[in-house]
Amino acid sequence: MKTQSYNLRFMMIIIFLLIFLPTGFTQSTIQYSYFAYQEASVQANLTGSQPHILHIDHYNDNSGTAVVRIGRTNYYDYGSRNYCYEQRLLLRVIQADGSVIEINYENATEIQDINYCAVTTLAKNPLNIYPLFDQYILVTYTHATNTSDTSTYEDRGMVFHWNGAIISKLEFGPSYLSPSTNWYPAEFIVNNITPKKGFLRLSVANGNKTDYFKWSQYRYNDSGTFSFLQSDTVRSLQDPTSFQITAIATLDGGYALIYANTIIRTLTSDNKLAAQFSENAGIYAIMLGYNQSNTPQSFILYQLTTPNITFTGLYCSVDFVFIGHSCIASLERKQTTAVPSTPTNSSTFYVRIRFFSSGAILSLDPMLPLNNGSLTNVRTLPFGGYAVITRAYYGQNINYTLNLYNASNALSEYDSSLKQITANFNGAFDVLQNNTILVALNETTTSWQILVADLPPLSPFSGKCF
Ligand SMILES: *[C@@H]1O[C@H](CO)[C@@H](O)[C@H](O)[C@H]1NC(C)=O
Ligand SMILES: *[C@@H]1O[C@H](CO)[C@@H](O)[C@H](O)[C@H]1NC(C)=O
Ligand SMILES: *[C@@H]1O[C@H](CO)[C@@H](O)[C@H](O)[C@H]1NC(C)=O
Ligand SMILES: *[C@@H]1O[C@H](CO)[C@@H](O)[C@H](O)[C@H]1NC(C)=O
Ligand SMILES: *[C@@H]1O[C@H](CO)[C@@H](O)[C@H](O)[C@H]1NC(C)=O
Ligand SMILES: *[C@@H]1O[C@H](CO)[C@@H](O)[C@H](O)[C@H]1NC(C)=O
Ligand SMILES: *[C@@H]1O[C@H](CO)[C@@H](O)[C@H](O)[C@H]1NC(C)=O
Ligand SMILES: *[C@@H]1O[C@H](CO)[C@@H](O)[C@H](O)[C@H]1NC(C)=O
Ligand SMILES: *[C@@H]1O[C@H](CO)[C@@H](O)[C@H](O)[C@H]1NC(C)=O
Ligand SMILES: *[C@@H]1O[C@H](CO)[C@@H](O)[C@H](O)[C@H]1NC(C)=O
Ligand SMILES: *[C@@H]1O[C@H](CO)[C@@H](O)[C@H](O)[C@H]1NC(C)=O
Ligand SMILES: *[C@@H]1O[C@H](CO)[C@@H](O)[C@H](O)[C@H]1NC(C)=O
Repeated sequence: MKTQSYNLRFMMIIIFLLIFLPTGFTQSTIQYSYFAYQEASVQANLTGSQPHILHIDHYNDNSGTAVVRIGRTNYYDYGSRNYCYEQRLLLRVIQADGSVIEINYENATEIQDINYCAVTTLAKNPLNIYPLFDQYILVTYTHATNTSDTSTYEDRGMVFHWNGAIISKLEFGPSYLSPSTNWYPAEFIVNNITPKKGFLRLSVANGNKTDYFKWSQYRYNDSGTFSFLQSDTVRSLQDPTSFQITAIATLDGGYALIYANTIIRTLTSDNKLAAQFSENAGIYAIMLGYNQSNTPQSFILYQLTTPNITFTGLYCSVDFVFIGHSCIASLERKQTTAVPSTPTNSSTFYVRIRFFSSGAILSLDPMLPLNNGSLTNVRTLPFGGYAVITRAYYGQNINYTLNLYNASNALSEYDSSLKQITANFNGAFDVLQNNTILVALNETTTSWQILVADLPPLSPFSGKCF
């Protein structure tokens, strides 16, 4: 019954899209507002600095509920951007009606100090939050029996209820160490398309190089507990420096692991000609069924023979407008000049791929170089089109540039002051299921603020089909 009602809701969104989308939007105006929240003064304030929004995420149940993690910096070096936060987990659940539920967790015996500092500039934050469904939030972190000894680091998860109670705990196994002693937390969790069926966790496998990754499926047991279903390690990827991987929940109830990688070739006079005509870089997908025990063969989404390509980003999502899946990858091409002493040129370009679970490719669009920001993000928008977001450091804040593209890759001209936003110090943002974008703005010592902007639908279906 639950599955059916979920599917029904999904169908209604599609029907809604087909019927109600406006025709033609040469010039759209974006409606926006601000959501501000005053942090209660009972919350002791260790550093005297403002509570930064570190992360925003939403529930995938069309409730419009978002979860925000805040934290005050205890230590921040603006030069190296090395930071540590106060040692407590502060979550704020923002419901669609604007009410906020606070969850504060301060047990440093369980979520130890190691989780509140950035590990390396490249690594993800060791502590992650994932809204699940109902009133549950999964928090993942690392626990050590001896925090000075990385070989004792284990990845864990806790399911919080909005009332602050810890409903259940999960053990994910040893943390990733690279090369064998340096802690390098790297994981990604994606809810099933029916969140009550469980989730998939993607992590790096210990052992050899970063070119091994591991997936694990978990199922929901009931009353906030989860149990392990299946896992496997995938190996023999080629170039770890260019390796990008992500996972999405597929419409058929399984998961897709999508990765981009390049092949390092050692050119000898023997293989030079062959290498010229063979693929050098590619994007591949592994379609994993729910509770499938082995890793199926990957299939090719995109391959190119151009040499000296590095994948710098990969973003994938369910494409609700085309009822398939869609990925956008950013690639950097380095061109070496004939004169060895001159610097190499590099150019960034993007490619967008739409495909079905069967592996059939619906479309493949190389996109023009959009910008060269090192913090560029791309998000497929629920109501069609995509957003290209460039975040540039601007003092202690982030200049946040939002460009919207329609499904035909044309820049959408919208009439708004939102193109350039001064976002908070890490530029946290999220796109909700109703096409609304949330961007964290500069905080004050006692409050935080989010920009709430309803993005226009950019679907090609408008005024065309049906
Ligand atoms: C935080 O600390 C600063 C400096 O000590 C103080 O002025 C401010 O009132 C404190 N804020 C709260 C919410 O306690
Ligand atoms: C989308 O959801 C958010 C959060 O619930 C809400 O603030 C916003 O007004 C909604 N937008 C539209 C267009 O309904
Ligand atoms: C803090 O966590 C530890 C380890 O999980 C537990 O033994 C202890 O009881 C917790 N302390 C409090 C005050 O909840
Ligand atoms: C913790 O690890 C450090 C570094 O390996 C070691 O020197 C120390 O003795 C360990 N402490 C305990 C209590 O095992
Ligand atoms: C690491 O590589 C070696 C040799 O290639 C292999 O025997 C071993 O199983 C690998 N370890 C893991 C954890 O995959
Ligand atoms: C999940 O359910 C199974 C079967 O009902 C049970 O064996 C297992 O102990 C449960 N796991 C948890 C974590 O509750
Ligand atoms: C998952 O698959 C195993 C067999 O590999 C089976 O025993 C188990 O019942 C399945 N669990 C679910 C939730 O489908
Ligand atoms: C690719 O890089 C190699 C080594 O840096 C260089 O020798 C080669 O000329 C480059 N190829 C192109 C097409 O830029
Ligand atoms: C590198 O860029 C410069 C300036 O845009 C251009 O003049 C030069 O030809 C480029 N070199 C290569 C190898 O593309
Ligand atoms: C990015 O573009 C700006 C101007 O468009 C240029 O000054 C800068 O050098 C470029 N950065 C890189 C890494 O290409
Ligand atoms: C950031 O925005 C401000 C004002 O909008 C502008 O003055 C500044 O040059 C921008 N900085 C960067 C690095 O884009
Ligand atoms: C952001 O907030 C900090 C502290 O409140 C303040 O010093 C800074 O000037 C603000 N930045 C902008 C761009 O408003």
